[in-house]
Amino acid sequence: MLSHDEDQVRAVIWREDALELLDQRLLPMETCYRRLTDAAAVAEAIHDMVVRGAPAIGIAAAYGVVLAARAHYARYPDRWRTLIDEDVQRLAASRPTAVNLCWALRRMEGVIAECADDPTARLLAEAQAIHAEDIAANRQMGELGAAALGKRGAVLTHCNAGALATGGYGTALGVIRSGYAAGLIERVYADETRPWLQGARLTAWELVQDRIPVTLLADGAAAALMRQGQVRWVIVGADRIAANGDVANKIGTYGLAVAARHHGVRFMVVAPTSTVDLEMADGRGIPIEQRSAEELLTLGGQPVAAAGVDVWNPSFDVTPAELVDVLVTERGVIWAPDAAKMAGMMEHRPY
Ligand code: MRU
Repeated sequence: MLSHDEDQVRAVIWREDALELLDQRLLPMETCYRRLTDAAAVAEAIHDMVVRGAPAIGIAAAYGVVLAARAHYARYPDRWRTLIDEDVQRLAASRPTAVNLCWALRRMEGVIAECADDPTARLLAEAQAIHAEDIAANRQMGELGAAALGKRGAVLTHCNAGALATGGYGTALGVIRSGYAAGLIERVYADETRPWLQGARLTAWELVQDRIPVTLLADGAAAALMRQGQVRWVIVGADRIAANGDVANKIGTYGLAVAARHHGVRFMVVAPTSTVDLEMADGRGIPIEQRSAEELLTLGGQPVAAAGVDVWNPSFDVTPAELVDVLVTERGVIWAPDAAKMAGMMEHRPY
């Protein structure tokens, strides 16, 4: 049996010259991998949430560039750069909030710029490096975050920032895996995370598989749980962190941060530096993805709302840095993040 600090699932796999994505829309009822062989299909899979979670969509997009390069160089050795560029733009537009997507594509473009002839092998090596570095960063953050937890207790998490949302192991769930293995976490409370139910379907599934005690709650129950003194920490991932430490993450995260501060519960954000966007001064400029009204009007394909009602369905919100007690990246732990500490961390200066 694997120990508690191992994860058992991979959402993104490069196998036999194609990209395989675990279809997260079907979990936990079905474990089905989709085999993709062209970049347009990868962009569609990201948009349609076959693969989701900021680091995982960056990794998938990087492999999408490999597929684009292979196809275009084989057919049009004189025009491959222009054609790949179109695919890169399509991948970049597939979801707007997670900056890991553009970060990974920028890395792939850097390799393209250095290639005189067939770029496929070098691009595959870069995509695999992005993937491996993400897993290594998650293991590192797991250790760093667990070391910041202090006394043993229960924690609350939102959405899914686990192995499924990353190259493997997870960001918030990486800290939870490491913290549980170290005996510092006794139980995880998982918000169900309407409307996509990433908490109920994905986080609960990962933790049940790893035999980490998990209790599911409706999103609206979180403040009452905190009031009862049941949790010591809220631990979440991020889709984009601005230069001042403001954090964009799954809708509902901001409300949790407000409730946590009110109840004296600590609030931890766990994300690799690929999620940090220094070009974004603060959270006000972060593009927030608006998703379809259908997601709120129906549940499992069945209508659940009054016909004719208007819908507001932002997929993410922004938590101001002042509500974040701890930010964990693979480079270290920042207490009470602000612009100066963020800049220091990104420059590798001590902070
Ligand atoms: O819409 P999703 O499922 O892609 O949203 C994912 C989240 O909000 C995660 O918390 C975030 O991407 C961090 S994943 C390590």
